[in-house]
Amino acid sequence: AIPAPPAIFSPVRENARGWDLTDPDTVDRITGSAFMGDHRWEMAPEGLSGPVQTLTNPARPGDSPGSIRQAARSDVAPAVARAAAAAQAWAATPVAERAACLSRAAALFEAHALELFALAAREAGKTLPDCVAELREAIDFLHYYAAEAEEACAGSEARGPLVCISPWNFPLAIFTGQVAAALVTGNTVLAKPAEQTPLIAARATALLHEAGIPRDVLQLLPGDGPEVGAALTADPRIKGVCFTGSTEVARLIERSLAAHAAPDAMLIAETGGLNAMIVDSTALLEQAVRDTLASAFQSAGQRCSALRIVYVQEDIRAPFIEMLTGAMDALRLGDPRDPATDVGPLIDAEAQADFAAYVASAAADGRLIHRTDAPSEGHFLAPTLLAVDGIGAMEREIFGPVLHLAGFRADRINAVMAEVNARGYGLTFGLHTRIDRRAQDVVDRMEIGNLYINRNQIGAIVAAQPFGGEGLSGTGPKAGGPHYLPRFRKRAGAGPAP
Ligand code: NAD
Ligand code: ALA
Repeated sequence: AIPAPPAIFSPVRENARGWDLTDPDTVDRITGSAFMGDHRWEMAPEGLSGPVQTLTNPARPGDSPGSIRQAARSDVAPAVARAAAAAQAWAATPVAERAACLSRAAALFEAHALELFALAAREAGKTLPDCVAELREAIDFLHYYAAEAEEACAGSEARGPLVCISPWNFPLAIFTGQVAAALVTGNTVLAKPAEQTPLIAARATALLHEAGIPRDVLQLLPGDGPEVGAALTADPRIKGVCFTGSTEVARLIERSLAAHAAPDAMLIAETGGLNAMIVDSTALLEQAVRDTLASAFQSAGQRCSALRIVYVQEDIRAPFIEMLTGAMDALRLGDPRDPATDVGPLIDAEAQADFAAYVASAAADGRLIHRTDAPSEGHFLAPTLLAVDGIGAMEREIFGPVLHLAGFRADRINAVMAEVNARGYGLTFGLHTRIDRRAQDVVDRMEIGNLYINRNQIGAIVAAQPFGGEGLSGTGPKAGGPHYLPRFRKRAGAGPAP
């Protein structure tokens, strides 16, 4: 038999060490595991009395990876009471012991890699390269925060019970990063995973418990955001919230803390973006197209870092579009378990319907440049390229494989940068150029968290590329960087002990 062509998005990613997807035996081990088949996870985190939620695989709605008991609103107050009661002892636990729990958890995550890959694929619809990168990032967070803890905790105090609220698009990596940072700095944690991905969060929580984190120190409360999440952020006993998700929900949480929490309560919010890239006429066209393709369509565009609008200098607009649309046609959409799949599904039917309507409306306005095909089963959306005048005309973040393209004349490049800054988001920005002075200009002018020059603009690596945005994209400090952990502490003597 002729082997399937490799996926376009490099299976040996920089942060995918240890699971080489170019090795057929490794791929067989992952795809042939029982977890990837019809294994079901039946989860019941302790102390919960809400309804049982059954999950569906977004690529194959007939496949259910399992079910989980959710938290009821009435479970929140007793959980916060347990977290508050456990706070003092956990804060007094030597930091080296807390860090050792994270290191043991990293080893357990590694030992359960096949199970965690399958959960990322079947619950979140992640392609195999993304599953591997997801686990690597989670493990990197555990190791990095364990290594940074001693210095971060010097001369300061734990805050007390913190709420960690995470999104579905990095259901293991972001969940683990938030929780690990809060725990290692001596805080007790109430973790609220996204509605769409509680199973993988429940497995991660169980592994953290196995690694030595006491049960009252880390409690999982799966459930609806406006119900369980909102009740957590409105409890006056919590000392802060670490949130990753949409800008709209971050605003709700900020208001809730202002109304209910102590004035010094912490809020870290990492939110969305309208991320842009500039490609000028000196760019290496093939490289710019390859990086545009990955930035916009890898992970089906379901990354906060993903490229939403590419500004292409008019002189190269036609060849750029020709090459990009050809590359889009070569992308394979399909079951994430197939190693040749480049683009998986959207997370759910709601996202699919919302973004399909957005594309249809743009097409009706005559703005459709190109759209590929998508499988009819599962929540897929075909990669799409739309014409737009500029970022000012984009009302919201479309969290899927939809890229906008605008042309610009050479003498307007500064106006383009000003326009992107003025839109108010500041997460990632890309530049393709061979003019050194222009690269420096972008560095100096752009109000942006993560700036990428002559490469793609996704996949920040823990410690090497701390990740986080400015303006509407987040409060900082950047996750996976040296300023993150100290934010989970307060000045010694700055208030009553928890
Ligand atoms: P979301 O804001 O809808 O949900 C995020 C979390 O908030 C979920 O756990 C949800 O249950 C909870 N929530 C919802 N309403 C709540 C409320 N009223 N009170 C408390 N909690 C509530 O976001 P999502 O759809 O899960 O994730 C996609 C979004 O996340 C995108 O906007 C993306 O850009 C952003 N994101 C940002 C980063 C980053 O690092 N900046 C990383 C990943 C995702
Ligand atoms: N940290 C993720 C990335 O860089 C969101 O793509």
